[in-house]
Amino acid sequence: MLNKKSVRDLLKKDLEHKRVLVRVDFNVPFDSEGQISDDTRIRAALPTINYLLDNGAKVILVSHLGRPKGKVVESLRLDLVAARLTELVECKVEKLDESLGEQVQKAISKMGDSEIILLENIRFYKEEVADDRGFAQRLADLADIYVNDAFGTAHRAHASTEGVAHFLPAYAGFLMQKEIEFLDNAVKQPQRPFVAIIGGAKVSTKIGVLENLLDKVDTLIVGGAMVFTFWKAQGLEIGQSLVEDDKLEEARHFLKKEHNSKTKIIFPKGSVVAKNVNWAAEKLEDKFKGCAVSEVDMRSMRPEDVGVDIDLATIEEIKTVVQKAKTVLWNGPLGICEIEEFAKGTQAVAQALADSKAITIIGGGDSAAAVKKAGLSAKMTHISTGGGAALEYLEGKILPGVEVILDKD
Ligand code: 3PG
Repeated sequence: MLNKKSVRDLLKKDLEHKRVLVRVDFNVPFDSEGQISDDTRIRAALPTINYLLDNGAKVILVSHLGRPKGKVVESLRLDLVAARLTELVECKVEKLDESLGEQVQKAISKMGDSEIILLENIRFYKEEVADDRGFAQRLADLADIYVNDAFGTAHRAHASTEGVAHFLPAYAGFLMQKEIEFLDNAVKQPQRPFVAIIGGAKVSTKIGVLENLLDKVDTLIVGGAMVFTFWKAQGLEIGQSLVEDDKLEEARHFLKKEHNSKTKIIFPKGSVVAKNVNWAAEKLEDKFKGCAVSEVDMRSMRPEDVGVDIDLATIEEIKTVVQKAKTVLWNGPLGICEIEEFAKGTQAVAQALADSKAITIIGGGDSAAAVKKAGLSAKMTHISTGGGAALEYLEGKILPGVEVILDKD
């Protein structure tokens, strides 16, 4: 259980006529036509928004979109997000073109109960990322209560995710609460056997998760291009596969730990490889167009090979392990899943989780996108809305956006 106060602790008497500043993560993806391609994050914030509206609060939403680096970027305004939100709620939504200043104060002073104001992209202000205290205080002055429902941004100590909580009573939104509880229960009180599948391209971004989970899970499955750094660390030929030469020592260190751990660790024993990759091509799919593709054992890679996916034997092994599991946590793709031909491992894992009776938790980012693409989202127990945030949580790090919320007692 999250030992933090949540919006549920706020009753009608606490909320009616009150201005509530809600940090949401509406950092949604857009397609090539400039339309929102996935509104999951907007929908995920609705339980909190509706609870506040139902209890007569004035809801002031604050979010970022992209990384505008402290400047106004027209394509990163929140107008389309506001339009989508308007379709999903039953009240008036007013979108402002600024996040602070006279226009904002005026609009808020005219707000009726159970109405929504969406402030402009908060990262248009350089003080946001700098977690500037004066800026955070000015944001706090707009409201009486602060609710953080932006799990996806909870790993950032920014003015609207952390700073503002120093000036207002801070509560967790329902999404924040749900996300933390799922990840927490999975890691701290898992139903066993507990299996974690960690994929991804780089050892540097995943080593923290591997180390944190090593003694918590019963089986740890490692996949994705980071495997080649582990193979090279053992002196194996990895051809032209992706590798982090500056992480070989770290990889060796982990392999030593693995040796002394009771946890069963599964590394792929082979790989799907592509030959004659056109590195000069700009687009990823063009690099691999016309390549000869085959499967090799981990000891038989040739200097011209590029590892692109896990091999069939590893897929079968993962399926067997997942079938027996009671909890499965998955973060990171197992191959280059942007290319259909090399997405087989990732798709097979998604299907294995969908078919299993275990509690299945998808740790956000690329694995969440893969599950969605396969049309299997409804079959998972929980899909995190946070990529980086879920990863940092799984590394055992304290998330600043959670830390600042009022403790329960
Ligand atoms: C995300 O998409 O992971 C969150 O919205 C955080 O975005 P950021 O990585 O730009 O801070």
